[in-house]
Amino acid sequence: MIWDGTVLRMLDQRVLPTQEEWLELKTYQDVVDAIKTMAVRGAPAIGVAAAYGLALAALHDADRTIASKELAASRPTAVNLFWAIDRINALPAWEFESVLSEAKAIEAEDLAMNHAIGRHGASLISAGANILTVCNTGSLATAGHGTALGVIRTAHSDGKGIHVYTCETRPRQQGLRLTAYELANEGIPFHSIADGVAASLMRAGKVDCVIAGADRIAANGDAANKIGTYSLAVQARHHGIPFYIAAPTSTFDVSLAHGDLIPIEERDGTELTHIEGVQIAPSRTPVYNPAFDVTPGELIDAIITEKGVHRPPFAF
Ligand code: MRU
Repeated sequence: MIWDGTVLRMLDQRVLPTQEEWLELKTYQDVVDAIKTMAVRGAPAIGVAAAYGLALAALHDADRTIASKELAASRPTAVNLFWAIDRINALPAWEFESVLSEAKAIEAEDLAMNHAIGRHGASLISAGANILTVCNTGSLATAGHGTALGVIRTAHSDGKGIHVYTCETRPRQQGLRLTAYELANEGIPFHSIADGVAASLMRAGKVDCVIAGADRIAANGDAANKIGTYSLAVQARHHGIPFYIAAPTSTFDVSLAHGDLIPIEERDGTELTHIEGVQIAPSRTPVYNPAFDVTPGELIDAIITEKGVHRPPFAF
């Protein structure tokens, strides 16, 4: 994401990795649209985008309350969105320069937090580890470096000789499209796998740990993340494999006592029935398409934040 004077430029994640197209967002409504349609996705990246969206709103003298409400309604689960909007709204004045400088601060802090997460998380990774991950938690999903992928990046640059299994992550395939794109660009050894392959790899002793990101973490450590994360945690526990969540503290929502209170987004069924606009299921197939699930804190061996490695029992 690049702030360019009066516009926000971002790589369109909907068409990666086959096309590298930069979007030019000129109004806050453009940012609302980009978040809704997942041109930008990933909890911290959504928060940063919303902050710049409010900078665009201030630049064009839009109503602060309306812009905040529309941005807040763009997606329901990732709490970073609301955290960033609240942070901008805590500014004393609705004035472009100060909103922009707060948005830039949010972005810079996220990058710094991810580097710290990477450093703390790498201490959990042994030499030659096979790490399984899901969805995309890398530079695209954050201000840079990444959360779970940040741990992987740091461990790789420390020379630990790691190898990654990245789950496809149906229906939107963030793992196959975006994580594979980032890993390949960095020369980190990996294999992409269909989501259903994970348990058999674990049984075969080919996974040393699982690391996922999060979209919202409740006070007791229950963590919402991309659909399928909970099954990975269940599988990891069954096979005695450590399961870690990596996220900045901006992903915590300590106002919620537990994960059942986290709103889970349901998306259009066409995400499942169609691939690249091509129908693959019978017409009118009824679909249940939750975008996230909640992994209970008791299945999480550690939550890695910029502050360090937190072990259960969790009480944030
Ligand atoms: O629906 P998405 O692609 O926005 O979901 C993203 C995830 O679930 C990520 O794992 C999460 O936001 C962490 S990103 C660092």
